[in-house]
Amino acid sequence: MKIAILLSGSGSNLQAFIDKQREGNLDVEIVLALSNNPDAYGLKRARNAGIPVWTEDHRSYPGREEFDQAMLAAIKESGAELIVLAGYMRLLSACFIKAFEGRIVNIHPSLLPSFPGTGAAAAAGNYGVKLTGCTVHFVEEQLDSGPVIIQAALPVPASEETEQTLERIHKLEHRIYPQAVQWLAEGRIEVRGRQVVLTESSRPKAFPCPNNDLSSQWLVYPLLEEGF
Ligand code: GRF
Repeated sequence: MKIAILLSGSGSNLQAFIDKQREGNLDVEIVLALSNNPDAYGLKRARNAGIPVWTEDHRSYPGREEFDQAMLAAIKESGAELIVLAGYMRLLSACFIKAFEGRIVNIHPSLLPSFPGTGAAAAAGNYGVKLTGCTVHFVEEQLDSGPVIIQAALPVPASEETEQTLERIHKLEHRIYPQAVQWLAEGRIEVRGRQVVLTESSRPKAFPCPNNDLSSQWLVYPLLEEGF
């Protein structure tokens, strides 16, 4: 499956995709990395991996729609079948989402629908939640709202700084996001209204039974498979 990745910052999730692909666990071709921030470190990662890059400063466009149309043209030309948002820090216009309806995914650093929007990890910490995590979901027009594909949860000790929590969230993001995209590449994901259903396969699970073992300090559902 051909994918395009949109990012605005460090691109550690892009790197996770590159690494999983190199390991032979992810059957995708990253045909384009796009950014609204020409200085994004993620673009460096893309270039190092030989991935074509498209970048323009969104402030040089008259408005959001014009910028999104320019991205859309580049994505269409690349032949991408799926758009992967990996730390893309701008709202997408309705016309962009419509053009790839059901074919845009995002990762968010909280257990949605709690704490949508920016600063999710800090907001969760300030609220005093005992569990937080990350969510991979389909993208709809309303921010951080589409059907959920996979979630990972982890405990939040009261004494922990947001930075530390975020670091643990990121480690899980780098596993669940490539896993979700691999499921899409395998054609094993079906969306029935709000429910995302994963077709089981004979592939071994990465961990036979992590969900019953609280000492492992995190839970992922659906279970990760071998290689993730
Ligand atoms: C991640 O925390 C993701 O959940 C959020 O943006 C961040 C991107 O990180 N949407 P990176 O640029 O992939 O390192």
